[in-house]
Amino acid sequence: MRIAVIHGPNLNLLGTRQPEIYGSETLADLERRIETWAAKLGLQTTFAQSNDEGSLVSAIQDAATDHDAIVINPGAFTHTSVAIADAVASVPIPTVEVHLSDIRQREEWRSVSRIAPVAVKQISGRGPVGYRDAMRHLVNRRKMASTVVSYGPGPENIADLRSHGRGGGRMVVLVHGGLWLAPWERDTMETLAVALTSVGYDTLNIEYRLLGKRPVWPASGHDVEMAIRYASTISDGVSVVGHSAGGYLALWAQTRQPAIPTVGLGPITDLESAQLHHHSLNEVITSGAPTQLSPEKTAILIHGSDDEIIDPEQSVRVGDDCRVEVVPGAGHFDIIKPEGPSWELLVDVLG
Ligand code: DQA
Repeated sequence: MRIAVIHGPNLNLLGTRQPEIYGSETLADLERRIETWAAKLGLQTTFAQSNDEGSLVSAIQDAATDHDAIVINPGAFTHTSVAIADAVASVPIPTVEVHLSDIRQREEWRSVSRIAPVAVKQISGRGPVGYRDAMRHLVNRRKMASTVVSYGPGPENIADLRSHGRGGGRMVVLVHGGLWLAPWERDTMETLAVALTSVGYDTLNIEYRLLGKRPVWPASGHDVEMAIRYASTISDGVSVVGHSAGGYLALWAQTRQPAIPTVGLGPITDLESAQLHHHSLNEVITSGAPTQLSPEKTAILIHGSDDEIIDPEQSVRVGDDCRVEVVPGAGHFDIIKPEGPSWELLVDVLG
């Protein structure tokens, strides 16, 4: 799979341009990193950068002749260019839009993207890893089709439904993490969703309300409950798998519906002590989320011993009440990788 990586105006100045916003890596550094990630994903990449709108339109048109997908950071043209949006819409290959900074959290005018409506995905505010995630999304998209469904009334109540195709059977609801911060969305669980669907589960990979203008609690908890109810209406049985902050949400939902089999992957169980390292959690606590969870006896927690984001203590401290598996040598994201050390354990506990 060949990916055209295209950068717009002023991104040639990365490294010296507002490093407090865009980091200190140059464009050449970034392109080298992208190449390394691409190789790991089995992809080939080509790179282009221009400060001119017309050249970017031509780069998009040219990419379509010998590439399978585009990853574009259109810079400031994101907010203004009908011509670039038209080019993206006109070519028969998918485009993911990437921004280093979170355009939704900056000036009001920056939050509007003309490209987003015609791109297959926008990734904003993850820094350089946004490009890795864009390529991973393109790989997963090509591997397995999904349908976007609404499980509730709000714009955040959406999910990717993937079906193993044999009809009936259990559905796994996947709840992503990211400390309730806007840049982190359900694509972080996509590789796991595709792998679980390949081995015979239907999967519902959900979005939910994150930190923003309204209080996040109980909104995000209620969203997860709503998604579980939705999943039970379209399947023969539901299990829930939540990662990190999504683990907290999954385990909280299980305290209200104890019969639902639930797995926490590197989950938060104690918001207060996790908050010492992650300040975004302060807002979750002040909006009323329970600071300490007591998982149901039937809950299963799988935590990497080397989890660098959520201390394994978060799972170990509730270990008297439920089954806890600490996976030696595994980090926070290893635990959600199908090629990672806990994959077989996960499939085993899902049954
Ligand atoms: C940007 C965000 C744009 O608003 C800005 O004009 C850029 C860079 C980003 O990567 O964060 O040039 O696309």
